[in-house]
Amino acid sequence: MSTTQMRAVLVSQPGDSSQLQLGEVPRPAPSPTEILVKIKAIGVNRMDIEQREGRYPVPAGVSSILGVEMAGVIEALGSKVTGFKISDRVFGLLYGGAYAEYCVIDQMATMLIPPAMSFETAAAIPENCYTAWQSIESVANLQRGHDILIHAGASGVSTVGIQIAKFIGAKRIFTTAGSDKKLEHCRKLGATHTINYRTEDFAEVNEIHRETEGRGVDVIIDYIGADYWNRNMASLTVDGHMVMLAFLSGAQVSEANIAPILFKRLNIHGSTLRSRTLAYQRQLKQATESNILPRVTNQQFVICIDRVFPWEEVAQAHEYMEANHNLGKIILKVED
Ligand SMILES: NC(=O)c1ccc[n+]([C@@H]2O[C@H](COP(=O)([O-])OP(=O)(O)OC[C@H]3O[C@@H](n4cnc5c(N)ncnc54)[C@H](OP(=O)(O)O)[C@@H]3O)[C@@H](O)[C@H]2O)c1
Repeated sequence: MSTTQMRAVLVSQPGDSSQLQLGEVPRPAPSPTEILVKIKAIGVNRMDIEQREGRYPVPAGVSSILGVEMAGVIEALGSKVTGFKISDRVFGLLYGGAYAEYCVIDQMATMLIPPAMSFETAAAIPENCYTAWQSIESVANLQRGHDILIHAGASGVSTVGIQIAKFIGAKRIFTTAGSDKKLEHCRKLGATHTINYRTEDFAEVNEIHRETEGRGVDVIIDYIGADYWNRNMASLTVDGHMVMLAFLSGAQVSEANIAPILFKRLNIHGSTLRSRTLAYQRQLKQATESNILPRVTNQQFVICIDRVFPWEEVAQAHEYMEANHNLGKIILKVED
């Protein structure tokens, strides 16, 4: 292959995982403030599946290649890049283009990989850590002593979120998930109360109200949407905050009860990451560098990786996530 070309995962046409194929495309060239990275490991995210299906609103001007996070080695530097050198091990969040042998990333978005950290662990950090920090600390403003309910507890984002809630000093950390194995893992990460949503109803059995002496929780992190709307409203305390990050069960709520928003003075937030400016994302990068990376290095904080697939098996990796098998992160490995 010529030095102007590279391999990348391409989507033949919007659809299922069989549309994913390795192909050849032009290698990107760094602008003056960008860094060219030879990718070693890629983080898989739900939005990659939605983008593959043609259901994700990709920001204007962004690479059509899937993938928003990677770890690798610096191959070339833009003329105005400072603080990095060729061969440095780096990782970061992209707006797109991570499912490839090479990508370009702005220096503002780039982090050095701590010495003992693998490329796989580094690639698992940006999207989950930025999202969890943003929603729990910045948007919901969780405080020491608060109670929090984090849904989809074993999802990539929530495995980080549970640990951030513990680090901030939440009193009770409730979490829901679809299997006892996932819930056991959540307890190891710091969840204090776990609810298997397939066998228990987190609002109907009144677990949250019983455990909080009828008060409800201060914060809910929700990805489920329609199915959980009324139960989430019932589970929040006065002046509580709910941050909506996705709507995995759908966005149309039939018979929605909006009265609690008024009577309990609830704060309902929507939050996204990919549509945010580089300057905004840089604040989350700095929060991750200050609060999370040192704790990963000294093993106070665990980055949960479920499986590493060779990138030639990208279709199987997507199918694994679509089947909800993953407990934490799925990684694609590009090469040793
Ligand atoms: N807004 C943002 O800025 C932002 C950023 C990152 C991610 N997200 C979104 O947040 C969600 C989590 O991301 P992730 O990468 O951490 O996902 P993930 O690792 O794939 O985990 C998602 C989990 O949600 C559970 N789930 C799926 N459908 C469900 C349903 N209908 N009802 C109840 N539980 C369901 C499944 O676990 P169980 O086995 O427990 O059912 C599944 O494993 C995704 O939808 C993603 O697109 C949003």
